[in-house]
Amino acid sequence: MATAEIRPYEPADREQVRQLCFDTGLMGESIASQWSDEASWADMITGYYLDKEPNNTFVAAIGNKVVGYLLGCTDTARIPDPVKDYVAVVVKRGLFVRPGTAAMSWRTVSDGLLDNFRKDKPKELHFSERRWPANLQINIAKDFRGQGLGSELMSNWVSKLRLLNVSGCHLVTLTEDGTSN
Ligand SMILES: CC(C)(COP(=O)(O)OP(=O)(O)OC[C@H]1O[C@@H](n2cnc3c(N)ncnc32)[C@H](O)[C@@H]1OP(=O)(O)O)[C@@H](O)C(=O)NCCC(=O)NCCS
Repeated sequence: MATAEIRPYEPADREQVRQLCFDTGLMGESIASQWSDEASWADMITGYYLDKEPNNTFVAAIGNKVVGYLLGCTDTARIPDPVKDYVAVVVKRGLFVRPGTAAMSWRTVSDGLLDNFRKDKPKELHFSERRWPANLQINIAKDFRGQGLGSELMSNWVSKLRLLNVSGCHLVTLTEDGTSN
């Protein structure tokens, strides 16, 4: 198998990054079983990074084929509230009533409301802590995992953050029981 190289994102990579985001959206598996609307998924997850900070995105690619990406943001405070974005997208595209998205849309809303009554209320989705202002999202295509590409993407990003004098970086992910960390 040809070796992938790590390089800065180019606008021509956009559709492949969005597709990979959809294909890995459920803990590394495709999100299709939960959310059939590919465009809105990619918009919600990659929109800010590709539109506002494309210079902070890196890809792992074999020629023109993107097999992994790291979406970076140097200051999380600049990202708009993801909950507002989510509601706007869901309402605009009628996702509350479309068969492939209605279940997850309603569940997200009901979980969000029920969380307010939980003693062990989950941490905020929009993690904000000045010690680690930057954040990242990373995904590698299934057939290319475990070959060091994730580590290389991370090294590139950390080097860039050092050059920019950014004090720290965090990543939000899910545990298998569904809580965010
Ligand atoms: C997680 C992911 C980005 C790692 O990239 P990768 O190219 O597969 O990882 P690498 O080969 O560079 O391995 C880096 C290290 O991470 C570890 N690692 C890789 N995947 C792991 C996983 N799912 N759980 C725990 N550790 C993992 C490796 O063992 C390795 O550890 P080492 O340095 O101590 O040997 C990639 O496997 C992936 O995209 N997975 C599916 C989606 C995902 O989980 N994305 C992150 C969501 S926040």
